[in-house]
Amino acid sequence: MSNRKPRQHVVLIGFMGTGKSTVGKQLAEQLGCTTCDVDAEIVRREGETIASIFASRGEQHFRAAETAALAEVLQSEGPLIIATGGGAVLAPANRELMLQGSFVVALTADPEQVIARVSQDPDRPLLQGDVRERVYKLLEDRKGAYDFAHLTIDTTQLSVKEVVEQIQQAMEQSKV
Ligand code: S3P
Repeated sequence: MSNRKPRQHVVLIGFMGTGKSTVGKQLAEQLGCTTCDVDAEIVRREGETIASIFASRGEQHFRAAETAALAEVLQSEGPLIIATGGGAVLAPANRELMLQGSFVVALTADPEQVIARVSQDPDRPLLQGDVRERVYKLLEDRKGAYDFAHLTIDTTQLSVKEVVEQIQQAMEQSKV
């Protein structure tokens, strides 16, 4: 498999706990590209943690900051491997931005796998309270929201290495 740099950005989308950041880092390493995490970019721009932005300014402010950060990152010289937050796909404008010249990869995982993964990180503001209930509710609310991707990979049974290989194979086939 070639480790040729892609011609365009690769954007990873998917629900919380599907492995976007981990896969992004490994894919970037394989391809010799820079990785970028939109959540980390929001924290840098706002000077506050995600939890603190939600608590002090609310989700609406967070979503506006997310759109601004995403737009800036997508305009950067690349190619970049970009990991987005799970809700970045909700605004139609964000989806359009992602589809303008990037290869969009959706990562999915079974709900129970998601619950196991996110339970290790208690800081996600949208999962406060009963995590299981919140995950099932949000998955229902967001049904179909990740379907606009060029490629979808169910990561439930796969190692990070296998996910990365599948993305590379699809990139080769699509001449990304
Ligand atoms: C969110 C996902 C989080 C983060 C924020 C909101 C969401 O990112 O952007 O807590 O709406 O799904 P991860 O998907 O990286 O956890």
